[in-house]
Amino acid sequence: MTQTRRIVLSSDHAAIALRQAVADHISAKGWEVVDIGPATPESTHYPIHGAAAARRVASGECRLGIVLCGTGQGIMMAANKVEGIRCGVCSDTFSARMIRQHNDANMLALGARVVGEGLALDIVDAFLDAEFEGGRHATRVAMIENPEA
Ligand code: RB5
Repeated sequence: MTQTRRIVLSSDHAAIALRQAVADHISAKGWEVVDIGPATPESTHYPIHGAAAARRVASGECRLGIVLCGTGQGIMMAANKVEGIRCGVCSDTFSARMIRQHNDANMLALGARVVGEGLALDIVDAFLDAEFEGGRHATRVAMIENPEA
């Protein structure tokens, strides 16, 4: 599958610099980065960028996605509105690992006004290096998609 190590990145204006640092870091780890911007720091609307990145993941074009805004919260909420997306906002490495292992998160959200660059890159590493454990967690993840079942 061609999208195995392809990851989409996007942010709003509050996280342009951290997004670039994340892009450089992920590229150095051997991932193909699809950075969909924005390229310039003018004030913009995080829901546009969260949804755009989420669609790249939901379509299968990219295996994972990372979205960033001031807190990570708004862009995470926008991403999670796209069917099939499980995006968690993380400010610690334990949560970043667990959202992959237990929740099969396919997107990570970061807050550029919350975490510094060093911690953010450690969080990215924890997210990318973890794998979904399946088993009982697969049952629960399926229930997220279809809570009535
Ligand atoms: C922009 O000022 C800010 O509201 C946005 O980056 C984000 O924190 C929203 O959740």
